Amino acid sequence: MSPDSAVPTAAAPARPAAPAMLPVMRPWLGEEEAEAAAAAVRSGWVAQGPRVAEFERALAARLGAAEAVVVSSCTTALHLAMVLTGVGPGDDVVVPSLSFIATANVVRYVGARPVFADVDPSTQNVTAATVEAALTPATRAVIAVDQGGMPLDVEPVRALCLRRGLELVQDSACAIGSTYRGRPVGGDATLAAYSFHPASCSRPGRVARWSPTVRSGRRGRGGCASTA
Ligand SMILES: Cc1ncc(COP(=O)(O)O)c(C=O)c1O
Repeated sequence: MSPDSAVPTAAAPARPAAPAMLPVMRPWLGEEEAEAAAAAVRSGWVAQGPRVAEFERALAARLGAAEAVVVSSCTTALHLAMVLTGVGPGDDVVVPSLSFIATANVVRYVGARPVFADVDPSTQNVTAATVEAALTPATRAVIAVDQGGMPLDVEPVRALCLRRGLELVQDSACAIGSTYRGRPVGGDATLAAYSFHPASCSRPGRVARWSPTVRSGRRGRGGCASTA
């Protein structure tokens, strides 16, 4: 289309000026990030190189977890978390009724059934009471979300899961940088996953875990799995 063809005519009236856009998910990228990406390209390490290990260490330190594993997305990290919990066909997993579709999808990936728990309208997060109301005899795990980065009140949910012998996975996709009781969200979780999508503040999914044997319920050293 030539520039002239865009000139308004009687048949095509000018549109009103678009309102100013709110940059809700514009990544904060500058020369430092551009240089880091260029350095990785120059190094020849464009896959699982030393920068990935460096990033995993930095992420674990930032979250107060002992280990971070970077994977390709938060969806992958959540899928991995489901595999680690040992949930499978015949099992139910409680997930929030309000979340990104990945939270429920990963339950299906392992052949289990997502059961939806209500969220508290004031926080948009599940509570111990709404999770408890969604439990079935087949419930084996709970995926609790820090919706939109709003920290979930996780302690009562964790206490419920411990009491009922359920695995708890924290979907902290949007919560990198958020804190709960003064500590990074998910840093003390058995398993937590994060996203580094621009809309989620991050795209690499990360699983943080506290126990080397997830099913033991013991709290050991933390760990995170992230993806690039
Ligand atoms: C709550 C929640 N879980 C999981 C995901 C999936 O993240 P990713 O796009 O990194 O796979 C998102 C993405 O927006 C999300 O909001």
